[in-house]
Amino acid sequence: MTQAKDEIKIGGLGASRKRVEDNRFIRGKGRYVDDIVLPGMLHMEILRSPLAHARIVSIDTSKAWAIPGVRLVLTGEMMATRNLAWMPTLSYDTQAVLATDKVRFQGQEVACVVADDPYIAKDACEAIVVEYEALPVIVNPTQAVAQGAPLIRDDKDNQHDNVIYNWEVGDKEATDRAFAQADRVSKLELHYPRSHPSPIECCGSIADFDRSTSKLTVYMTSQAPHVIRAAVALVSELPEHMIRIISPDLGGGFGNKVPIYPGYVMSILASILLERPVKWIEDKTGNLISTGFARDVYLKGELALRNDGKILGVRMHTDADHGAFFSDAQPSKFKIGLMHSAFSCYDIPAAHLTAQGVYTNKAPGGVAYRCSFRVTEAMYFQERMVQAAADDLGMDQAEFRRRNFVRDDDFPHRTPFGFLTDSGQYGKCLDVGLEAIGYADFLREKEEAKKRGRLLGIGISTMTEPLGAGNSREYDILGMKMFDSAQLRVHMTGKAILRTGAKTQGQGHETTWAQIVAHELGMPAEDILVEEGDTDNTPFGLGTYASRSTPVAGAAVAMVSRKIRAKARKIAAHLLEVSEEDIEWELGRFYIRSSPERGVSIQECAMAAYSNMPDGMEPGLENVAYYDPPNLTWPFACYIATVEVDPVTGVWDVLRVVAVDDCGVRINPMVVEGQIMGGLTEAYAMASMQFITFDAQGNCVGSNYMDYLLPTAWETPGYELHEVVTPCPHHPIGAKGIGECATVGGPAAFVNAVMDAVKDTGVRNIDMPLLPDRVYEALTKRHDVSGAPPVKTDD
Ligand code: CDP
Repeated sequence: MTQAKDEIKIGGLGASRKRVEDNRFIRGKGRYVDDIVLPGMLHMEILRSPLAHARIVSIDTSKAWAIPGVRLVLTGEMMATRNLAWMPTLSYDTQAVLATDKVRFQGQEVACVVADDPYIAKDACEAIVVEYEALPVIVNPTQAVAQGAPLIRDDKDNQHDNVIYNWEVGDKEATDRAFAQADRVSKLELHYPRSHPSPIECCGSIADFDRSTSKLTVYMTSQAPHVIRAAVALVSELPEHMIRIISPDLGGGFGNKVPIYPGYVMSILASILLERPVKWIEDKTGNLISTGFARDVYLKGELALRNDGKILGVRMHTDADHGAFFSDAQPSKFKIGLMHSAFSCYDIPAAHLTAQGVYTNKAPGGVAYRCSFRVTEAMYFQERMVQAAADDLGMDQAEFRRRNFVRDDDFPHRTPFGFLTDSGQYGKCLDVGLEAIGYADFLREKEEAKKRGRLLGIGISTMTEPLGAGNSREYDILGMKMFDSAQLRVHMTGKAILRTGAKTQGQGHETTWAQIVAHELGMPAEDILVEEGDTDNTPFGLGTYASRSTPVAGAAVAMVSRKIRAKARKIAAHLLEVSEEDIEWELGRFYIRSSPERGVSIQECAMAAYSNMPDGMEPGLENVAYYDPPNLTWPFACYIATVEVDPVTGVWDVLRVVAVDDCGVRINPMVVEGQIMGGLTEAYAMASMQFITFDAQGNCVGSNYMDYLLPTAWETPGYELHEVVTPCPHHPIGAKGIGECATVGGPAAFVNAVMDAVKDTGVRNIDMPLLPDRVYEALTKRHDVSGAPPVKTDD
């Protein structure tokens, strides 16, 4: 049997192993925060502000205190006496835990009640009387920077306007020169709307402070439990070893469960005060209106073009609406995340990006919703720009991309904004996609259909994106360097337990990490138990978001396995009574080079590590690896969608979707396909139906699933998946991240397809979501359709 076949048999790299975690999930046996019941546990509910911007005149909690079963009513004033009314955010700003002076967005936390059961707590919240004095409301960047705009963050000493930052990257002079040389300039403006990651499980925590041991245990919906532990230690001044964060099964995260939310902090304080476990479980509306929104950026861009289709330079400006608190969870060096990864797959000599971030009266935004810190906005903008430029030049959109792609022999390649990409076969991916969709045939069909009044369109989106932050030289969160870790203990009987600093939320780490160990050590994957999420029992890591797990924690898994193999090799030499240099390795077995039939299995080495180790060797077979990646990984994707738009109603249907992904070596092809299908579904949702906006008074429109739509199986299109494999040159097993590629690259494919169908109207842009009324407006009025919230304040 070949090594590859052996490897598939033990569930190693390339095996489409069924996900082991699904055994409990599909039986309803998952253990989520809300499933946990502790003796003497109390329940917390939050009172939220109905207004988006208002001064708090008074808060009367007397009626709430009088309700039997109420144990604690907390207000901002009470938090302030403990110096806890405000907390630091992951972007070096501050955020109110409970409002003291003003409320700054609808849904902001104003008070909370802890009671014997959640219903009493909810009733007591309704008994709290808050008097507000309404203030003018700001719902977009235009209003935020307007003359005389009300100051949202008047709590901050040096804040005299609503601007959070002005940031730039790239080479302005070189870009100006490129534009001066251009034959023509193609321009586009658009808005990437707010969206909400909306995991099925909302946020929640159970804080359990034990006065007798001084230990605080918090069960929490967190994608980054170690980061939370460090942050809690800093804010509470509790010693870090006395804090244990346990993130059990998570019902999705998508970036929503990275930040620190006021509910977590209040449940911790309540537990310390009451010396009882306190559970807080957010409801769906609370989650949709108050926790980590994503996107909400306005983009203006220009491409300097030569008539032969060569892109000479790019200029971008973005205005980012961060809401009332700047709480993006992102590497601290980059104010607008990795927006400047835009155009990385294209060979463009000069680029310049300016970004302004502002406060508005909306819930904090900017979380990396299945995205590497603003990469989704970057790639959407890039691919919309690329299509508009091809149309402006009258050039085929596929050919335009091909002419500008970085060539296969041009790696490592410095991107226009300074990243270093290291591998890819961009032209090949595009070719596979075009072949699969039948590009030439579709273009002919489209022309034929047009003659009969039917509107067909094809949209392409090609992109490489940076996945796997760090390296630690450039990437940190709150000063914590972005590396990750894995700890592997092989027991005497050859079974093993692996723990990492990452935290799966449904991605399948319990399955795929075991496959990496199987590949490295030749042990069956089913013999390896994977655990994550408990800070007492896992090595320190930065957690799971931005598809960093495989590039960083996955690499650590390979590296710790190699450390184990190195020790096992010494044991094998001892057992075989030869020197280490005479030993060879094949999957799962060491043997003597000169007599291959004489060998020992990895399991025999494990047994000997506890029962027959060489003299002087430390017993046991376990190790830990901290992995600091030398670079990001750069997967590539080509997504192609075809659509038909109804010219009478503006309704559009997806005809076909082809996806070609190159994420390097695939650990588990079936898991990868699941990631791509899920990502494409979120992309389709954003492009077609997900509408969560704010009216002029700052009311959140889309605070429930009747308004904010998630696609069901009924609406979800079918996907045709293809692959190209370009191994990552620096990752120990050649893997690149995949989790978010389709969410990042997908939206532009759908929107480009609709824009292609309606392009004879001369309309350059319709903002997402492309609801039928927006498409209808574009078709009938022949103008661009903006999705930006209203600029003027209504009475
Ligand atoms: O950080 P996150 O887990 O969300 O994203 P990821 O590292 O891209 O991985 C998502 C899932 O796909 C994990 O179960 C990975 O192990 C798996 N994967 C894979 O099987 N092969 C790859 N080349 C990349 C990811």
